[in-house]
Amino acid sequence: MARADDRAGDNVIEVRGLTLSFGDKLVHRDLDFSVRRGEILAIVGASGCGKSTLLRELTLLQPPDSGTVRLLGEDTAAMSPQRILELRRRIGVLFQNGALFGNMTALENIGAPLREHTALSHRIIDEIACVKLGLVGLGPEDGLLYPNQLSGGMHKRVALARAIALDPGLLFLDEPTSGLDPLSADAFDTLVLELKAALDPTIVLVTHDMDSLWQVADRVILMGEARLLAVGTMQEMAASGDPAVQQFFRTARGRAAESCR
Ligand SMILES: Nc1ncnc2c1ncn2[C@@H]1O[C@H](COP(=O)(O)OP(=O)(O)OP(=O)(O)O)[C@@H](O)[C@H]1O
Ligand SMILES: [Mg+2]
Repeated sequence: MARADDRAGDNVIEVRGLTLSFGDKLVHRDLDFSVRRGEILAIVGASGCGKSTLLRELTLLQPPDSGTVRLLGEDTAAMSPQRILELRRRIGVLFQNGALFGNMTALENIGAPLREHTALSHRIIDEIACVKLGLVGLGPEDGLLYPNQLSGGMHKRVALARAIALDPGLLFLDEPTSGLDPLSADAFDTLVLELKAALDPTIVLVTHDMDSLWQVADRVILMGEARLLAVGTMQEMAASGDPAVQQFFRTARGRAAESCR
Protein backbone atom coordinates (compact mmCIF):
# COMPACT_ATOMS: atom_id res chain seq x y z
CA MET A 1 0.00 0.00 0.00
CA ALA A 2 1.31 3.49 -0.89
CA ARG A 3 2.58 5.76 1.84
CA ALA A 4 0.42 8.79 2.64
CA ASP A 5 3.17 11.31 2.03
CA ASP A 6 5.66 10.07 -0.54
CA ARG A 7 7.21 12.46 -3.08
CA ALA A 8 6.93 15.33 -0.58
CA GLY A 9 8.33 17.88 -3.06
CA ASP A 10 5.27 17.57 -5.30
CA ASN A 11 2.79 18.12 -2.51
CA VAL A 12 0.17 20.85 -2.78
CA ILE A 13 -1.30 20.02 0.64
CA GLU A 14 0.57 18.55 3.60
CA VAL A 15 -1.35 17.62 6.72
CA ARG A 16 0.56 16.72 9.87
CA GLY A 17 -0.84 15.68 13.25
CA LEU A 18 -4.25 17.20 12.50
CA THR A 19 -6.56 16.86 15.49
CA LEU A 20 -10.06 18.24 16.03
CA SER A 21 -12.87 17.74 18.54
CA PHE A 22 -16.29 19.34 18.84
CA GLY A 23 -16.82 19.41 22.62
CA ASP A 24 -16.46 15.81 23.81
CA LYS A 25 -16.72 14.45 20.28
CA LEU A 26 -13.31 13.60 18.80
CA VAL A 27 -13.58 14.00 15.02
CA HIS A 28 -10.01 12.99 14.20
CA ARG A 29 -6.63 12.67 15.85
CA ASP A 30 -3.14 12.91 14.37
CA LEU A 31 -4.04 12.78 10.70
CA ASP A 32 -0.98 12.72 8.43
CA PHE A 33 -1.35 12.78 4.66
CA SER A 34 -0.41 14.74 1.57
CA VAL A 35 -2.04 15.65 -1.72
CA ARG A 36 0.20 15.65 -4.78
CA ARG A 37 0.10 18.32 -7.44
CA GLY A 38 -2.29 17.40 -10.24
CA GLU A 39 -3.80 14.29 -8.65
CA ILE A 40 -7.41 13.46 -7.86
CA LEU A 41 -7.42 12.30 -4.27
CA ALA A 42 -10.64 10.80 -2.91
CA ILE A 43 -11.59 10.75 0.77
CA VAL A 44 -13.95 7.97 1.79
CA GLY A 45 -15.39 6.68 5.05
CA ALA A 46 -18.65 6.11 6.87
CA SER A 47 -21.17 8.91 7.35
CA GLY A 48 -20.16 11.14 10.23
CA CYS A 49 -16.48 10.12 10.22
CA GLY A 50 -15.45 13.70 9.53
CA LYS A 51 -14.88 13.98 5.78
CA SER A 52 -16.70 17.31 5.32
CA THR A 53 -15.09 18.64 8.48
CA LEU A 54 -11.68 17.70 7.11
CA LEU A 55 -12.47 19.57 3.88
CA ARG A 56 -13.40 22.61 5.95
CA GLU A 57 -10.02 22.42 7.68
CA LEU A 58 -8.22 22.09 4.33
CA THR A 59 -10.10 25.09 2.90
CA LEU A 60 -9.39 27.35 5.90
CA LEU A 61 -13.00 27.41 7.07
CA GLN A 62 -12.43 25.42 10.28
CA PRO A 63 -9.29 25.79 12.42
CA PRO A 64 -7.99 22.50 13.86
CA ASP A 65 -7.27 22.07 17.59
CA SER A 66 -3.69 21.09 16.80
CA GLY A 67 -1.50 19.97 13.93
CA THR A 68 -0.65 21.77 10.72
CA VAL A 69 -2.10 22.20 7.25
CA ARG A 70 0.42 23.42 4.68
CA LEU A 71 -1.18 24.71 1.49
CA LEU A 72 1.15 25.31 -1.47
CA GLY A 73 4.11 25.03 0.90
CA GLU A 74 2.83 27.53 3.48
CA ASP A 75 1.67 26.82 7.02
CA THR A 76 -1.92 28.08 7.10
CA ALA A 77 -1.79 28.82 10.85
CA ALA A 78 0.98 31.37 10.25
CA MET A 79 -0.80 33.24 7.46
CA SER A 80 -2.02 36.81 7.71
CA PRO A 81 -5.73 37.47 6.97
CA GLN A 82 -4.60 39.08 3.70
CA ARG A 83 -2.66 35.97 2.69
CA ILE A 84 -5.63 33.74 3.59
CA LEU A 85 -7.82 35.86 1.32
CA GLU A 86 -5.29 35.52 -1.51
CA LEU A 87 -5.17 31.77 -1.03
CA ARG A 88 -8.97 31.44 -0.95
CA ARG A 89 -8.94 32.93 -4.43
CA ARG A 90 -6.96 29.92 -5.61
CA ILE A 91 -9.29 27.37 -4.01
CA GLY A 92 -12.63 26.23 -5.45
CA VAL A 93 -15.15 24.41 -3.28
CA LEU A 94 -18.30 22.50 -4.18
CA PHE A 95 -20.06 22.08 -0.82
CA GLN A 96 -21.96 18.91 0.07
CA ASN A 97 -25.38 20.52 -0.37
CA GLY A 98 -24.36 22.72 -3.31
CA ALA A 99 -24.93 25.78 -1.14
CA LEU A 100 -26.10 28.04 -3.97
CA PHE A 101 -27.47 31.44 -2.96
CA GLY A 102 -31.26 31.08 -3.29
CA ASN A 103 -31.85 34.73 -4.14
CA MET A 104 -29.44 34.72 -7.10
CA THR A 105 -29.80 33.23 -10.57
CA ALA A 106 -27.42 30.46 -11.64
CA LEU A 107 -25.34 33.00 -13.55
CA GLU A 108 -25.17 35.35 -10.57
CA ASN A 109 -24.16 32.44 -8.34
CA ILE A 110 -21.31 31.52 -10.69
CA GLY A 111 -20.18 35.14 -10.80
CA ALA A 112 -20.19 35.51 -6.98
CA PRO A 113 -16.51 34.54 -6.43
CA LEU A 114 -15.51 36.92 -9.24
CA ARG A 115 -17.44 39.78 -7.61
CA GLU A 116 -15.85 38.95 -4.24
CA HIS A 117 -12.25 38.53 -5.36
CA THR A 118 -11.81 40.69 -8.47
CA ALA A 119 -12.53 44.22 -9.62
CA LEU A 120 -13.85 43.07 -13.00
CA SER A 121 -16.86 44.85 -14.50
CA HIS A 122 -20.35 43.29 -14.31
CA ARG A 123 -20.29 42.68 -18.06
CA ILE A 124 -16.97 40.78 -17.97
CA ILE A 125 -18.09 38.80 -14.92
CA ASP A 126 -21.29 37.76 -16.73
CA GLU A 127 -19.26 36.74 -19.77
CA ILE A 128 -16.87 34.62 -17.68
CA ALA A 129 -19.82 33.09 -15.80
CA CYS A 130 -21.44 32.23 -19.16
CA VAL A 131 -18.26 30.46 -20.28
CA LYS A 132 -18.20 28.45 -17.03
CA LEU A 133 -21.88 27.59 -17.51
CA GLY A 134 -21.00 26.20 -20.94
CA LEU A 135 -18.02 24.30 -19.52
CA VAL A 136 -20.32 22.36 -17.18
CA GLY A 137 -22.69 21.53 -20.04
CA LEU A 138 -25.48 24.07 -19.39
CA GLY A 139 -26.93 26.60 -21.83
CA PRO A 140 -27.29 30.41 -21.46
CA GLU A 141 -31.04 30.03 -20.75
CA ASP A 142 -30.19 27.87 -17.68
CA GLY A 143 -28.18 30.79 -16.32
CA LEU A 144 -31.41 32.75 -15.78
CA LEU A 145 -32.92 30.11 -13.47
CA TYR A 146 -32.95 30.39 -9.68
CA PRO A 147 -31.70 27.44 -7.54
CA ASN A 148 -35.26 26.28 -6.76
CA GLN A 149 -35.87 26.01 -10.53
CA LEU A 150 -32.87 23.71 -11.12
CA SER A 151 -32.92 19.90 -11.11
CA GLY A 152 -30.53 18.14 -8.72
CA GLY A 153 -28.06 17.46 -11.53
CA MET A 154 -28.20 21.07 -12.80
CA HIS A 155 -27.72 22.29 -9.22
CA LYS A 156 -24.49 20.26 -8.95
CA ARG A 157 -23.28 21.58 -12.30
CA VAL A 158 -23.94 25.21 -11.34
CA ALA A 159 -22.15 24.61 -8.02
CA LEU A 160 -19.21 23.15 -9.95
CA ALA A 161 -19.21 26.12 -12.35
CA ARG A 162 -19.09 28.46 -9.35
CA ALA A 163 -16.24 26.42 -7.81
CA ILE A 164 -14.17 26.86 -10.99
CA ALA A 165 -15.13 30.53 -11.54
CA LEU A 166 -11.65 31.75 -10.59
CA ASP A 167 -9.80 28.90 -12.39
CA PRO A 168 -8.56 27.52 -9.07
CA GLY A 169 -5.45 25.36 -8.89
CA LEU A 170 -7.08 23.43 -6.06
CA LEU A 171 -10.61 22.10 -6.28
CA PHE A 172 -12.55 20.49 -3.40
CA LEU A 173 -15.69 18.52 -4.23
CA ASP A 174 -17.85 17.21 -1.37
CA GLU A 175 -20.04 14.34 -2.59
CA PRO A 176 -20.65 15.82 -6.04
CA THR A 177 -22.61 12.82 -7.34
CA SER A 178 -24.78 12.13 -4.28
CA GLY A 179 -28.48 12.20 -5.10
CA LEU A 180 -27.91 11.88 -8.85
CA ASP A 181 -29.28 9.00 -10.94
CA PRO A 182 -26.59 6.63 -12.30
CA LEU A 183 -26.47 8.22 -15.75
CA SER A 184 -26.24 11.77 -14.40
CA ALA A 185 -23.61 10.66 -11.90
CA ASP A 186 -21.65 9.04 -14.69
CA ALA A 187 -21.92 12.22 -16.77
CA PHE A 188 -20.72 14.24 -13.78
CA ASP A 189 -17.65 11.99 -13.40
CA THR A 190 -16.90 12.51 -17.09
CA LEU A 191 -17.28 16.26 -16.60
CA VAL A 192 -14.80 16.21 -13.70
CA LEU A 193 -12.29 14.33 -15.86
CA GLU A 194 -12.83 16.80 -18.73
CA LEU A 195 -12.26 19.75 -16.39
CA LYS A 196 -9.17 18.04 -15.07
CA ALA A 197 -7.84 17.64 -18.60
CA ALA A 198 -8.70 21.24 -19.55
CA LEU A 199 -7.68 23.17 -16.41
CA ASP A 200 -5.42 20.65 -14.60
CA PRO A 201 -6.39 21.48 -11.02
CA THR A 202 -5.46 19.28 -8.09
CA ILE A 203 -8.74 17.79 -6.89
CA VAL A 204 -9.75 16.54 -3.45
CA LEU A 205 -13.03 14.67 -3.69
CA VAL A 206 -15.26 13.28 -0.95
CA THR A 207 -17.53 10.51 -2.14
CA HIS A 208 -19.47 7.39 -1.16
CA ASP A 209 -19.78 6.47 -4.80
CA MET A 210 -17.74 3.37 -5.73
CA ASP A 211 -18.14 3.99 -9.45
CA SER A 212 -16.76 7.51 -9.07
CA LEU A 213 -13.82 6.13 -7.14
CA TRP A 214 -12.95 3.68 -9.90
CA GLN A 215 -13.49 6.27 -12.63
CA VAL A 216 -11.74 9.35 -11.32
CA ALA A 217 -9.60 8.74 -8.22
CA ASP A 218 -5.83 8.47 -8.55
CA ARG A 219 -5.55 7.64 -4.84
CA VAL A 220 -7.99 7.05 -2.02
CA ILE A 221 -7.85 7.84 1.70
CA LEU A 222 -10.07 5.72 3.95
CA MET A 223 -11.04 7.42 7.22
CA GLY A 224 -12.58 5.79 10.28
CA GLU A 225 -12.19 5.46 14.05
CA ALA A 226 -11.13 9.15 14.07
CA ARG A 227 -8.01 8.35 12.05
CA LEU A 228 -6.71 7.54 8.63
CA LEU A 229 -7.18 3.79 8.12
CA ALA A 230 -5.53 3.36 4.70
CA VAL A 231 -4.17 5.19 1.66
CA GLY A 232 -3.70 3.77 -1.81
CA THR A 233 -4.99 3.38 -5.33
CA MET A 234 -8.33 1.65 -5.86
CA GLN A 235 -6.45 -1.39 -7.13
CA GLU A 236 -4.44 -1.44 -3.88
CA MET A 237 -7.59 -0.97 -1.81
CA ALA A 238 -9.38 -3.78 -3.64
CA ALA A 239 -6.42 -6.12 -3.11
CA SER A 240 -5.80 -5.09 0.51
CA GLY A 241 -5.83 -7.75 3.22
CA ASP A 242 -6.54 -5.09 5.89
CA PRO A 243 -9.88 -6.04 7.52
CA ALA A 244 -11.01 -2.38 7.86
CA VAL A 245 -10.33 -1.74 4.16
CA GLN A 246 -12.01 -4.98 3.15
CA GLN A 247 -15.06 -4.22 5.26
CA PHE A 248 -15.52 -0.73 3.82
CA PHE A 249 -15.09 -1.71 0.20
CA ARG A 250 -17.14 -4.92 0.55
CA THR A 251 -20.09 -3.12 2.10
CA ALA A 252 -19.92 -0.05 -0.16
CA ARG A 253 -22.25 -0.58 -3.09
CA GLY A 254 -21.75 0.30 -6.71
CA ARG A 255 -24.06 2.82 -8.36
CA ALA A 256 -25.78 0.11 -10.36
CA ALA A 257 -26.56 -1.90 -7.24
CA GLU A 258 -27.90 1.22 -5.50
CA SER A 259 -30.24 1.96 -8.37
CA CYS A 260 -31.67 -1.58 -8.27
CA ARG A 261 -32.71 -1.39 -4.63
N1 LIG B 1 -19.90 22.71 13.57
C1 LIG B 1 -20.03 21.56 14.22
N2 LIG B 1 -20.31 21.53 15.55
C2 LIG B 1 -20.42 20.37 16.23
N3 LIG B 1 -20.28 19.15 15.65
C3 LIG B 1 -20.01 19.12 14.33
C4 LIG B 1 -19.88 20.30 13.55
N4 LIG B 1 -19.61 19.94 12.27
C5 LIG B 1 -19.59 18.59 12.26
N5 LIG B 1 -19.82 18.10 13.49
C6 LIG B 1 -19.82 16.68 13.87
O1 LIG B 1 -18.59 16.14 13.40
C7 LIG B 1 -18.80 14.80 12.93
C8 LIG B 1 -18.32 14.70 11.50
O2 LIG B 1 -19.23 15.40 10.65
P1 LIG B 1 -18.98 15.51 9.09
O3 LIG B 1 -20.07 16.34 8.54
O4 LIG B 1 -17.60 15.98 8.86
O5 LIG B 1 -19.11 13.99 8.63
P2 LIG B 1 -19.04 13.36 7.17
O6 LIG B 1 -18.01 12.29 7.20
O7 LIG B 1 -18.88 14.43 6.17
O8 LIG B 1 -20.48 12.68 7.06
P3 LIG B 1 -21.41 12.46 5.74
O9 LIG B 1 -20.80 11.33 4.95
O10 LIG B 1 -22.74 12.07 6.32
O11 LIG B 1 -21.47 13.75 4.98
C9 LIG B 1 -20.28 14.50 13.12
O12 LIG B 1 -20.43 13.82 14.36
C10 LIG B 1 -20.92 15.88 13.20
O13 LIG B 1 -22.09 15.86 13.98
MG1 LIG C 1 -20.09 15.16 4.64
